[in-house]
Amino acid sequence: TESMLPIIQDKLVAIAQTAGKMMVDADPSVDTSDTKKNSSDRVTETDKAVEDMVKSRLLSAYPRFAFLGEETLKDGQKLGDEPTFVCDPIDGTLNFIHGFPNTAVSLALTVEKKPIIGVVYNPFRGDLFTAIKNRGAYLTTANGSTKRLPLRPIPAPLASLNDCLVAIEWGSQRQGSNWDLRTSIAQTLMTSKSSGGAMVHSIRSNGSAALDFCYVAAGWLDVFWEGGVWIWDVCAGWIILEEAGGVVASANPGDWNPTLEGRLYFAVRGAKRAEQEGVVKELWGLMGDRRFVF
Ligand code: IPD
Repeated sequence: TESMLPIIQDKLVAIAQTAGKMMVDADPSVDTSDTKKNSSDRVTETDKAVEDMVKSRLLSAYPRFAFLGEETLKDGQKLGDEPTFVCDPIDGTLNFIHGFPNTAVSLALTVEKKPIIGVVYNPFRGDLFTAIKNRGAYLTTANGSTKRLPLRPIPAPLASLNDCLVAIEWGSQRQGSNWDLRTSIAQTLMTSKSSGGAMVHSIRSNGSAALDFCYVAAGWLDVFWEGGVWIWDVCAGWIILEEAGGVVASANPGDWNPTLEGRLYFAVRGAKRAEQEGVVKELWGLMGDRRFVF
């Protein structure tokens, strides 16, 4: 029931803080890291240890809820309609391995395949982003202050991509048509208008899709465009963004209602739907008839 949501959120925050301590205490230079599909797709012992801790604590507190996690995903497991905890123990594993302090634990609760609670915690900077459906999104910082998102006043100029600071992540698939599309759109976004580009303010690649969603929610970024991320990367950030007034559309043109399982996401901040739609359609237009395929 609705009244349980703040209690569940408190539990997720407490678990995220334990996870954060495990991340900060770990030494990734001695932490065994395995490669998954290729040398840029990695998992560390800490990813696995954090997920084991999160899973056992959540399932002992809420034994009737389902659990879906990046590292313990079972073959063929899909997000269902039942209340489900979705966990990315370390989003931004490459950053974690390199000591680049833009890494987070991302925890969400979904009901009927939609996120209703999101908790994203970066222990290296002490940023805790939280949201509950219909109750707003918040950032609590290391000094203990809590502010409602977005932090930057809106509406701000967001009528076209030309006004935007845009996040793109590169993922680990570095060849083929998805890669060609990603790199060519990145180039077009950056190119000056007189040479046929969108001339965005600039592009950022911070290395964590979960934090990109939160940064759009905060208003520090205007747009995040990504093809290839998974449910656990975006689930918590999604509700944090929506509760801050932002919208999620598909990274491929045409779909204003992507599902969590789609792997294609376009996140835009803002208060004015028309401006948000204008920016989404502009990027969709740059894609012509090209599409991500997964
Ligand atoms: C990755 C990050 C990265 C994105 C990748 C994700 P992980 O998550 O979110 O920004 O480009 O597609 O897999 O593997 O560090 O949890």
